[in-house]
Order: sequence, then structure tokens, then C-alpha cells
Amino acid sequence: MAVGKNILRKDGYEKLTGAARYVDDVTLEGMLYGKTIRSRIARGRIKSIAYDAAFDWSQIVIADYRDIPGKNYVALIEDDQPLLAENEIRHYAEPILLIAAANKDLLEAAAHHIHIEYEQWSPVLSIEDALACREIIYGTDNIFKRFLIGRGDVEEGFAQAERIIEGEYRVPHQEQLYIEPQGMIAIPGNEAMTLMGSMQCPYYIHKAIKQLFHLNDEQVVVIQMTTGGGFGGKEEYPSVIAAHAALLAHKAQRPVKLIYDRAEDIAATPKRHPGVIRHRTGVRRDGRMVASEIDLVFDGGAYVTLTPVVLSRGVIHALGPYACDNVRIQARAIATNTPPNGAFRGFGAPQVAFAYEMQMEKIAAELGMDSLELRRINMLREGDTTATGQTLIWSVGSEEVLNEAVERANYQAQRLAFSQSHSSIQTSTTNHVEAHKRRGIGLSFFLHGAGFTGSGEAKMKAQAGIEIMANGHPRVLSGSTEIGQGTRTIFSQIVAEELSLDFSAVEIEEPDTSRVPDSGPTVASRTCMVVGRVVQMAAREVKAKLLHFVAERFAAPEVELREGKFMVAEKALADFQEMACEYVNLFGELRCFAHYASPPEIEWNEETYSGDAYPVYSWGAEVAEVEVDMDTYEVTVVRLTTAQDIGRAIHPLLAAGQIEGGTLQAVGYGLLEELVWDQGRIINNRLTNYIIPTALDAPDMETIIVEKAYPHGPFGAKGVGELPINGAAPAIAAAVFQATGAFLSEIPITPERLQAAIEKVTTDEHR
Ligand code: MOS
Repeated sequence: MAVGKNILRKDGYEKLTGAARYVDDVTLEGMLYGKTIRSRIARGRIKSIAYDAAFDWSQIVIADYRDIPGKNYVALIEDDQPLLAENEIRHYAEPILLIAAANKDLLEAAAHHIHIEYEQWSPVLSIEDALACREIIYGTDNIFKRFLIGRGDVEEGFAQAERIIEGEYRVPHQEQLYIEPQGMIAIPGNEAMTLMGSMQCPYYIHKAIKQLFHLNDEQVVVIQMTTGGGFGGKEEYPSVIAAHAALLAHKAQRPVKLIYDRAEDIAATPKRHPGVIRHRTGVRRDGRMVASEIDLVFDGGAYVTLTPVVLSRGVIHALGPYACDNVRIQARAIATNTPPNGAFRGFGAPQVAFAYEMQMEKIAAELGMDSLELRRINMLREGDTTATGQTLIWSVGSEEVLNEAVERANYQAQRLAFSQSHSSIQTSTTNHVEAHKRRGIGLSFFLHGAGFTGSGEAKMKAQAGIEIMANGHPRVLSGSTEIGQGTRTIFSQIVAEELSLDFSAVEIEEPDTSRVPDSGPTVASRTCMVVGRVVQMAAREVKAKLLHFVAERFAAPEVELREGKFMVAEKALADFQEMACEYVNLFGELRCFAHYASPPEIEWNEETYSGDAYPVYSWGAEVAEVEVDMDTYEVTVVRLTTAQDIGRAIHPLLAAGQIEGGTLQAVGYGLLEELVWDQGRIINNRLTNYIIPTALDAPDMETIIVEKAYPHGPFGAKGVGELPINGAAPAIAAAVFQATGAFLSEIPITPERLQAAIEKVTTDEHR
């Protein structure tokens, strides 16, 4: 009735008409504007802070770490990141002071009259420097976190191998670049401090503010406003902005609005972790992998923030969608004097996907084998076991996605045609390609675990509820946020389907911590599969209560709910809304809450890092066709064909939108996006020089949704948010490899990097 249909999105009308209010649209009585004064060095200590005596400071509110009522840290995993620097500086743009004023001009003027003097220390700015321990900036070895996954006997595996292939891959930072920069308003009050703004996770902010200000649950209210994208970038950092605004509001006893412009947002907020990933793979001549040793190092930046969980997802996905009996995967996250890296769509997986897929290309090339064939030999299928020892028992669409992508892209025929055109200069003008342009086609194959890693969901026990309102309509009570991905729409579809109502009857409560339970953060591809399941369970309970009520009321034992009506045999007794109103009139309220319970089949061992890392995986395969300009070394992606198994698609159009959007972000990751650094400072923190793909860079895309139902997801749904960002970068690099013979082990494939790689091939050939 509702699930599987492309209904109008719940948040569409408001956004289309401009009625939706974002944080910067709100102005409150007596409100001040806030600003953050940040460090201009990457490492050192504060020697002095001076305020120009000539300036009139009476109009300015100033707050520093001494104004924090509680402990000076932002609550997350470790308590190491101060809300405001006290003395030591660990990265450029680290917050030191906060100022607020009634108008923005005055605020900017004040900022120019504050002078901070530093003692500069030598910063650690790269993974290599951190590992060499030339300067210790964290613990005794600059290492935030380590993981080790082991299975079988790697030495024995390598002994059996006929070929051993090594590769080293490097992946860069990436900026989330949501359309709406970050921002928050803090409103002090006698009963509670209220925070409203742009965010993914209201309960993260709730927790951070409670600790910083020594407040209880009721004394902090966090409200998500219309949010213009998140992509992980609004997972953890909004806690910092909320706390900064709250500190100023607390001191001024007036509402304070703190909005970042684009330059500040890019300079200061977290990015995707860069990494260096080494593979050593033992294979038999027929292509079968018999041993795999992987070492991955992620750059966590200056503070721990979410790095351990990003690294955890990275290490678990490091072998990719392949089976190997003898595996050792070592993972480390190191500290550097750069702004902390954090959540970005994919969360550790896109980094390792580039490495494992390029390693497959390398192995195939060295064996003289077709890389599709190599993938088919080693791929995980239902019943197979992953690197963590997880047996894949359900919803494994690996073969389907690979077959679909390859067939729809006409991969094998195109691959052959391009390789023939390269082998002969005379035929290089086939496919209407000019002589100085070369075409290639490449493939990637990948998986993504949905929901929190390991026992995360079992511990979280996400809650959600359904409340029947006085008009008889159901309202969803959930802390999951709409960030453009479709939370409101799919929740209303799930409830409508379960209660056999029209989706327009379902309302969604605002994510406000005083009105909705903690459904866990809106991250990790968990909103549909995990929270959607809880919403479904709550709806089932509402339905059971109403069926019982109607059965008693009509003295009819076998009542059914169909198309909004309570039925006995083929006779309609009453409709849903009518009976729901009657129930509420009689009993005062009808509210049902449910919480998430992991499937009983799932087991995870945190100590040995083995077992069922995720309850289920989504699967993807992608084919990229590129054209390389051999004069300018520009790569144009001509066509992308992607097949993804996401379980049942609750809303196929929104799911396809997620896949296309994620794929395009991955085109940026593979080809364009690069931060430029100078001594720990990002110097291209603008939309004019941090280049992302636009509509003009978007290739033709064909998206095929494969629906292998997952028995524990709502109506069979799995996760879709992050899977699509894993595929494009390696598929493009594989296509460039075919087109030019240059094997790129580092992204983005900028013209400079490609030129160097092609020149290296030419030199090697002439040696
Ligand atoms: Mo996401 S990167 O799990 O917010």
C-alpha cells in the first residue's frame, strides 16, 4: 500500500516553497551574534591574550575556558578534546575564545582588537612523521587506536601462494560540503538551556551540554531545525558549536546565534580521514587468494573524536567483499596537528575500498588475468565467511549486483573494444574518440555493513514510538533526523503500511529531546534498517492494542485491519481513525514505544574482534567508463552504471537518489577533491578552490536496485546511505588504468598526478 511506492516526500513542500526554516532564518528578541576566535598556529602554547584598550569592550561578551561550569571537554568517546583551548594548541583553527555582540559589524571589529601571542612548537603534519615519532603529540607513540583482525594462518597461506603481490594505496581528506554550513542558536532559560540548529544527532548535543554545564536531562532541550545536508559532517561537530553558543548565552543571559560561513566551516570542522593502506596478497596461479596481509593507517587529526569507530569500520571492511582463509589486518589511527577528522559518509569504508579494489586490479594485471574473473573467483557468496569469521546467512546480493552492473554496462564487450583500440594506433579513432583521447572501462565491487559496528546496536537499544493524536492520526516519535535523505518519508511509509493507512495520515514529531526518545544518532546507514524496524515494531503494538479494543467493543473475536478499516470477515466495523479517537477519548492516550533488539543469530566478540561485525551487508558493483585527454590529462567520466543490493527499497526513487548522490560524491573523491595545506592550515577553504563535482561533471548514470530482502529489516530493507560512496573512485581508477596503462595508487586522479603516472609508464617501457 505505501512501501515500495514513490510517494511525495514529507519535507518536500516546505523546502520547495521556502517555508522551511533553517537556523540562520531565525532571529530572536535580544539575540546576540557569536564568533569563535581560533588559533593561527598548528602546535604550541598561548603566551598571552591582549585586548586593545582603545576599543569599547562594554558592548562585547567574551567567554573563555574559565567560564565553563563543568569540565572543559566535549563529551564523545574520549574526554581529550577541550571545548576551548586553555594553554596548549594542537591544531590550526582550534577554538580559544568566544565573543558575542548585538550586531555582526561590531563583532568583526572586536575580533580585530584581540591579539594572541604564541610560542610555536614543531607540528606533526603527516602520517609518516607521526609514525616516526619525531615529535610525540599523543600518548607515547602518537597512536590513538589499534585493531587487529586475524583468521587462519597467514604464514602458512603465503607458503602456499604461487605469487605474492604488494601494493600501497593513499587516500586523501575529503570535505562533506553540505549545502548549509553549520550553525546553532542557544537560548538560556530558568528551566532549561535550549539549543536549536543544524544537526544529525540531537542526543549527542544533549549529552555534551549536560556534562559541560552540570545539567540534568530535563535542563537541556535540543531541537533539530531543517538541516541542509550532513553526510556525517553534522554528526559530532554540532556539539562543539552548540556548546560554544551555550557558553556565550549562559554568560550573556541572552540568546546567541553562532553560524559558520563556508571558509570557517571548511577550515575548522572534521573531514574524512586520510590514510595509507598496504596490501600483501598471496594468490595461486588460478587467481585464488590464499593469504592476505593488510596494514592500514588513518590520520585522526589532533583529537580522538570519532576516530576509533571510523578505524573500526575501516579494519572490518579492509578485505572487501572477498573470501580468504588466512588473513591478518592491522589498523592504526595516528595523531597529527591537523583539525580532528571525523564522520563522513562511509566512515572508513571508502578509504579501504579504493585500496582493496586497486589491489584486485593489480593482482589481475600481474597474473595476466581478467579482473572480473579474479573477482568472481574470490567473491563472498551466501554461506561464505568474512575476514572477521562471520558466516553470511541472509540477504547476500553479491552475484546479482555484479552480474547486473556488468550486463547493463556491456562491460566485457566494451572492455575488449577499448583494449583493441589501444593496441593499434590506426583504430584509435573508433567510438568517435579523437586520437588524443583515450577511453577505458573499469569495475568495482564492494560491500557495506549497515548499522553500528559489533555490539553497538545491542548496547544502544534504540527507541522510537508511535502516539495516536486526538484526531486519530498516528505520529512517529523518534530522535532520527531528516537531513535530506528521506527519514520522514520512509518512516511515514513504514507506519502507513503497518497500520494499513494512507501515508498522508502519518505525522512525524520534530526531533526535540523533550518530546522524542533517543533513537541513536542519524548515522551509519542505520535510520531505515534499525530505527525503521523499531518504528515498525511500535506501529505493530499500536495495531495490536486497537485490534483488541475493537474486538471487545464489537464483541467480535476475529478482527482484522485492512485499508484503514477494522473488518470482521468481509464486513467493515469501523475505520481506523474513528476507533483511534474513541480509544484516546476513553483512556486518555495511546502511545507505544519499542526498542531495537539485535537478531538472536548475531554474535560479536569485542576482545578478539571476531564474529558478526554487522547483522547484514549491502552489496554494490559499479562500472565506470572514462575518457582521458592525453594532452591535458583530464579525466571525464562518461558513464556510470551501478547495481546495489539494499534489501527492499521502501521508496525506490529516494533510494536511487541516495545512490546517485553518493556516487557523485565518490567521483569527487576519486578525481577532484583535494585539500591544500600550509603548515597545518587549509588554504583552499572556499567553494571556488575546493573543487567538487557539479551537475556539469555528472556522468550519465544508470542505477539498478537489487532487492534481496533482509528478514530483520522493516519490510526487508537494509542500509543505503553509505554503500554508494564506496564504488566510484576505484572503478574510475580501473578505467583510467585501462585507458592509459597508468596504475594510480593514489587519489584524487588530478591531471598532475595522472601526468606523472603516465610518464612513469612511458619511462618504464623504454627502459
Ligand atoms: Mo555517518 S559518516 O555514520 O554520519
